Amino acid sequence: MTTLGNMPRNDTTKLTVEELSEKQAKAEHARLAAEIAEHDRRYYQDDAPAVSDAEYDALRRRYGAIEARFPRLRSAESLTRHVGAAPSARFAKVRHAVPMLSLDNAFAEDDVRDFVGRIRRFLRLADDEEVVFSAEPKIDGLSMSLRYEDGALVTGATRGDGSVGEDVTANVKTLEDIPKRLKGKTIPAVCEVRGEVYMTKQAFLALNKRQAESGGQVFANPRNAAAGSLRQKDPSITASRPLGFFAYAWGEMGALPADTQSGMIEWFASCGFKTNPLTKICRSVEGLLAFHHEIELQRGSLDYDIDGVVYKVDRLDWQERLGFVSRSPRWAIAHKFPAEKATTVVRDIEIQVGRTGTLTPVAKLEPVTVGGVVVQNATLHNEEEIKRLDVRQGDIVTIQRAGDVIPQVLGVVVEKRPRDARPYKFPTKCPCPLHSDVVRETIAGGAEGARTHCTGEFACPYQALGHLEHFVSRRAFDIDGLGEKQIAFFYEQEWIEEPADIFTLRERNGKLRLKDGGKKTRIEDIEGFGEISVRNLFNAIEARREIPLERFIYALGIRHVGETTAVALARGYGSWTAFHDACGKLAAGDDETRQEMDALDQIGDTVIDSLRDYFAEAHNRRRVERLAAQVRILDAEKPRAESAIAGKTVVFTGTLEKMTRDEAKASAERLGAKVAGSVSRKTDYVVAGPGAGSKLGKAKEFGVKILSEDEWLKLAR
Ligand code: IVH
Repeated sequence: MTTLGNMPRNDTTKLTVEELSEKQAKAEHARLAAEIAEHDRRYYQDDAPAVSDAEYDALRRRYGAIEARFPRLRSAESLTRHVGAAPSARFAKVRHAVPMLSLDNAFAEDDVRDFVGRIRRFLRLADDEEVVFSAEPKIDGLSMSLRYEDGALVTGATRGDGSVGEDVTANVKTLEDIPKRLKGKTIPAVCEVRGEVYMTKQAFLALNKRQAESGGQVFANPRNAAAGSLRQKDPSITASRPLGFFAYAWGEMGALPADTQSGMIEWFASCGFKTNPLTKICRSVEGLLAFHHEIELQRGSLDYDIDGVVYKVDRLDWQERLGFVSRSPRWAIAHKFPAEKATTVVRDIEIQVGRTGTLTPVAKLEPVTVGGVVVQNATLHNEEEIKRLDVRQGDIVTIQRAGDVIPQVLGVVVEKRPRDARPYKFPTKCPCPLHSDVVRETIAGGAEGARTHCTGEFACPYQALGHLEHFVSRRAFDIDGLGEKQIAFFYEQEWIEEPADIFTLRERNGKLRLKDGGKKTRIEDIEGFGEISVRNLFNAIEARREIPLERFIYALGIRHVGETTAVALARGYGSWTAFHDACGKLAAGDDETRQEMDALDQIGDTVIDSLRDYFAEAHNRRRVERLAAQVRILDAEKPRAESAIAGKTVVFTGTLEKMTRDEAKASAERLGAKVAGSVSRKTDYVVAGPGAGSKLGKAKEFGVKILSEDEWLKLAR
């Protein structure tokens, strides 16, 4: 079983629950609590689980079994009384009017028989009395509570710890499957509709492809992708991600519009919700098991992930009588599917380089069938994951098709390791023909750990096309008629291999040779181009021979230098010569240049390191110089000379009372001042409001002029 690396382990882990003494049970119970809490945190807050659902369930089961044998261990803090992890601090909190609970799990057929037997006994049913169940797939997404008041959607909240969730209203409003207003005449004043937000497998694969291309976070499975997409601070990001929603439960509900579970589902559909089309009425244990089997067979062909089926007592009056035991209802159970696992041999560990230069290790496997699909590769994510698993060439590994899509390596069968297997050494050079150095960086948010990338940039053939696409994109050089399709074609023909080639294309036209034919060609004569479009293309290229400095910097595609950063750098240095000189000095290790850059507003260590790495590579420098020779780079907007603050560097600290920090910054920049984030000897003014702290101290130390907000306002005109 995989465990988190830093969890202490001792021998009690090897004993069965029956074998544990009370003292050992106490220690094991505490250890499991810590381990489960850590997994919950990773799952609910980081959207990045470290173990499979099956492994997590096994930990939970062992924890529950220990409490069943030693009930004294079941304190108020027991995890069996709580669900999930506390909500993440990023979103406002919502207290659920009715707690969002979880489901008990059944794994074996006997668990299902026991479940039905318990219900019959609890309700004291006569032998001939039938219990009708509503059976439905268990969607592997994230649960959502939608509160409607007078028919209008007012709140969307995640489950969180079951009592308090996260307010993601603005985000759920962007989902097509979630009605903003309920349809129908008899809508209770308050309706809390609950269900599952999910991402289809197809959408997940497409999203990951886009993310990988743009250097964004790549998700492990559709559930994480759905969670990550929903828990975005910017709703437009959620809107751009295709998320679906199935309604299957409810919280606070004014008056119940039906008296059965299946009736409620029909009512949800009449209100405008999507409900799962595979939902079915079952009248016996055999009926439930047949449903489980039937859905398991369909599992692979469904376009969304499911991890089992759920059986719910159909009569709501019986649901009411059955009630809840700690965290789950007595009237429902999740019948899980066994995880689709297999063992096989790691033939090799290969490094793949994505378009943004990220190095991803991939286990090349002896082909093996998992859940009906032949698997030959499994992702190892990054260097940390290889270390965590200690996977080596020749190892026998357990793999799983996580969320049915990306095969993952769960662990190594260490007992069967070949004697000559050596720990894997992550490469320090990119496998590209240039063998450029690689750099490790930790991604902010940390969900995916550290990523390693090639410093070859434009020169690395794996990255070249991605960079060229970025170069001509709308916010960079924005060259009409040179979209992804055309640039890919020119790149393939080796006519445009670096940005400077775009500007020499016209003079080379007519002398270009097609790769297969080898004949000299004019672009106009190639199918799909034509005289007019080529003329327009060359005009569009000519129109970009003059380019503002910030666009030029942005177009270089330097990691971490997005548009805003490019503007800050352009304003800070004013001209290409000044910026280029500074980058050269930075790459040579000049400390003063580093400090000068650090004093610029919005520029910090990540950007500076990235600029240093980029300009330290000779092939990057050469390409940039070849490009700069082809274009005229316009200086950044000149500061207005008539203002007293033009050209001055200012730092704001403390609370400003007459303007917001953003306003202050914008007006200072409009007048040509440079707004810095920290005080250095080069700072001209520190504007200090109430509560100013260490920056004020620094200003005094360096003898920098300190102004009140009013004094500043007088000066800044
Ligand atoms: S009913 C009182 N029905 O499974 C419990 N849950 O393990 C109400 N889930 O938190 C839940 N599909 O996120 C229910 N058809 C379904 C479901 C389903 C997925 C999730 C849900 C819940 C978790 C419990």
